[in-house]
Amino acid sequence: MGKSIHLKQLELGVCYYPEHWKEELWEDDFKRMRELKMSTIRVGEFAWALFEPEEGVFEFGLFDRALDAAHRHGLKVIMGTPTATPPAWLTHKYPEVLNAAQDGTIYRHGMRRHYNYNSPKYRELCAIITREMAEHFKDHPAIVGWQLDNEFNCETSVFHAEADHAAFRRWAQRKYATLEALNEAWGTVVWSQTYTDWEQVYLPRPTVADSPNPHLALDGKRFISDSVLEFAQIQADILREVAPQHEVTTNGMFGHLDSHALTDQLLDYFSYDSYPQFSTIFPSADEKPLLDRKWSLNLSAVRDVSPNFCIMEQQAGPGGWVNRIDMPSPRPGQMRLWTYQSVLHGADRVMYFRWRTATVGTEIYWHGLNDYHNRPNRRVREAAQVGREFAAVGAKIAGSTYQAKVAILRDYDNEWDGEFDVWHGPLTARSTNAWYKQLQYRHIPADMVYLRRESGEELERLSRYELLVYPHAAILTEQTAELLTAYVEGGGKLIFGARTGYKDERGHCRMQPFPGPAAQLCGITVEDFTLIKGTVQAPALRWTKNGESRETFAEDFNDILNVEDPAVEVMAEYAEDYYAGRPALTKRRQGRGEAWYYGAAFSEPVVDTILDLLNIQAPTADWLTVSEQVEIGIRANGQGSYVFLLNYGADAASIVLSEPRNDLLSGTKIEGAGEIPAYGVLILE
Ligand code: GAL
Repeated sequence: MGKSIHLKQLELGVCYYPEHWKEELWEDDFKRMRELKMSTIRVGEFAWALFEPEEGVFEFGLFDRALDAAHRHGLKVIMGTPTATPPAWLTHKYPEVLNAAQDGTIYRHGMRRHYNYNSPKYRELCAIITREMAEHFKDHPAIVGWQLDNEFNCETSVFHAEADHAAFRRWAQRKYATLEALNEAWGTVVWSQTYTDWEQVYLPRPTVADSPNPHLALDGKRFISDSVLEFAQIQADILREVAPQHEVTTNGMFGHLDSHALTDQLLDYFSYDSYPQFSTIFPSADEKPLLDRKWSLNLSAVRDVSPNFCIMEQQAGPGGWVNRIDMPSPRPGQMRLWTYQSVLHGADRVMYFRWRTATVGTEIYWHGLNDYHNRPNRRVREAAQVGREFAAVGAKIAGSTYQAKVAILRDYDNEWDGEFDVWHGPLTARSTNAWYKQLQYRHIPADMVYLRRESGEELERLSRYELLVYPHAAILTEQTAELLTAYVEGGGKLIFGARTGYKDERGHCRMQPFPGPAAQLCGITVEDFTLIKGTVQAPALRWTKNGESRETFAEDFNDILNVEDPAVEVMAEYAEDYYAGRPALTKRRQGRGEAWYYGAAFSEPVVDTILDLLNIQAPTADWLTVSEQVEIGIRANGQGSYVFLLNYGADAASIVLSEPRNDLLSGTKIEGAGEIPAYGVLILE
């Protein structure tokens, strides 16, 4: 179990930038926050130039006054370390702290997150400002915790400063000890890439056709993740030493960062920034997209890090930057709906971003609760409703956790390798989407579980699930295969998709039949395979067990399977092409469980057919009928079980309850046929 935030009550709060406003606004702002029943603010995370206007000169007066005012109004404060925004004096004097593009072009002052994690000078300066702030604020009665930096790896998750190349060299030396081992791991025998001196080793630099060595590229991402952890550790250690009574967290889940390791190693709990509208503004070919509801998948990944977490930034209006990112205004009710989306998935503290829209800078269109005019508006009224509701029902819900019997598995190695490797990465996005979507539409709650520790504890964690789907684990270690075999033997059902197990953790293709270490468990091997692309059509499937009449096709990639074990049942075969009649979907019982192998990427109709075969029901199937546009999820603890119904639709959704239930938010009893209004929320007890 990951580390969680521990609150007795759901808490509401908001991000506040005292430095953006005239001081005479503060009192009124804090007063109104309390009227909205907010308890917490986050401040300070970008204010380095104020805290240290010149090197070694520290000025905390503005924040002292702001914190005192917040405290007078009974607000708690999370203070950010400001290291995402090095001031101009700093980068001017020490340009080696700046990050660079792959071609070496230095990123200059003018935005944020323009630093690199490995510059010794930057680490030193960050340690100094963190210690100064910790010493100065440690006894302030308003402060309850710290946010490290802001959104590690947001905006960019690749680093090419000289300091990064040098640190990568040392990292590779620690990992491989000898150049011989490094050359072997990176397969440098191909194309005379052999290194004969450590000084020749770099993170990926510009190459012809933009195609760096793939094994090096994967290690480069592992290195970046380790760099973030080292960088963050320095600040966490200082805060623990100077202000041990305070919580330490950080916000955001971004690429090339093992957020699980980060949290286990140095945080008290994980925090996330939730902007569901990002999943609605990009064009999609999907016929029936989940839209903002798809954000629940991200929140499920967050929950795997910390079952109860903090939303440090919850969307409070349309988002926008001056030159990119432009979002429509949330419809009345949508902000509240998204707040409960976060709560359903495990958030116990939700802070809106931000109190008031900035009148200057890149984010003048990233709307806060209050607008430039600072007069009452519908977003403030909506937040007030949430505040009242949290106050009324928050004590029941805080500390309860999301309940799921199905999990989709993922892991960092495949995520990072798959960004680069077009022969497996795109399959995972496709299949994860199809599974998540069909589970959502069938009202079957699902977790996202990252496979990490190959230990007994991991087996215990997996064994809570009836069904695990590991869509395309191209990289699969022997230990993971053993773990999954133990899961199946203990009674679990496991489903793999195409391309499983053909790579080891270095990204080398194995000289053994696929699915490599999973072949025995599945009882099949892959003799031949093809991409489905260009002029090649996806072949139809013929289902052998359930006379499936739906049109289903084996999309994107086809593994042509050989049955190797008499215990294997062929559930579907390819109906077309030169491999017509060969197995496409197999099932093998082992111990008390089942291992399934599907030779293609999962499409929605295929997932549906498999779910029918598995006969997995929604946990509310006995007493609740509800339309597809509603997300259903359950949070439970020893005291009770709370069924959240979130209507993402612009129309009312019908529900039928065959047993009476209490709706916590309205305080009314619901029975028989009813409706959830557009963007409405019910929490049934
Ligand atoms: C987050 C960031 C905030 C703000 C917000 C809206 O990524 O942490 O500082 O920029 O997005 O863009």
